[in-house]
Amino acid sequence: MERELIIRKIKDGIVIDHIPAGKALTVLKLLGITGKEGFRVALVMNVDSRKLGLKDIIKIESRELSKDELSIIALVAPTATINIIKNYEVVQKFKVEIPDKIEGVLKCLNSKCITNKPREPIKSRFITISKNPLIVKCDYCGTVYTAQDIEYMLLKSRE
Ligand code: CTP
Ligand code: ZN
Repeated sequence: MERELIIRKIKDGIVIDHIPAGKALTVLKLLGITGKEGFRVALVMNVDSRKLGLKDIIKIESRELSKDELSIIALVAPTATINIIKNYEVVQKFKVEIPDKIEGVLKCLNSKCITNKPREPIKSRFITISKNPLIVKCDYCGTVYTAQDIEYMLLKSRE
């Protein structure tokens, strides 16, 4: 049992729990949350977790997550649990899952890749070769990317 809550419970929204310690800011950034949207956001870093040692947590009120956003969270925070909160109750809880095939979310870093040709409106597609450690491969040019590359790739495409 938790002795005390570091941040209070939310009424409606999402709690992204079991984020690897240190990754919460990356997740927030990739969700495009700056604080200017006007909804309440709480973030805790480096709190004790039975499973992970230390973990981060993000609570976002009045916000939902799209399928693409769930894939993005899985790629940078594969241990994350999503809790959907309605009227103070957890109405849904699930673990994020790295998709076997990742479409349209990542952008290949190979400038010669056909997905980067200015006049080719091709949706990117990556195949997951391994989930732990994370390794994916561009389905068009075969370039292989690690977890670190993927985080760089995701952050870069949001600059
Ligand atoms: N939570 C919240 N507001 C609510 C309900 C839950 O902020 N109205 C948060 C809790 O603080 C916790 C997470 O959502 O960080 C999941 O809640 P719960 O399932 O009650 O906690 P645990 O049983 O500890 O979850 P798990 O088994 O996934 O570790
Ligand atoms: Zn490519």
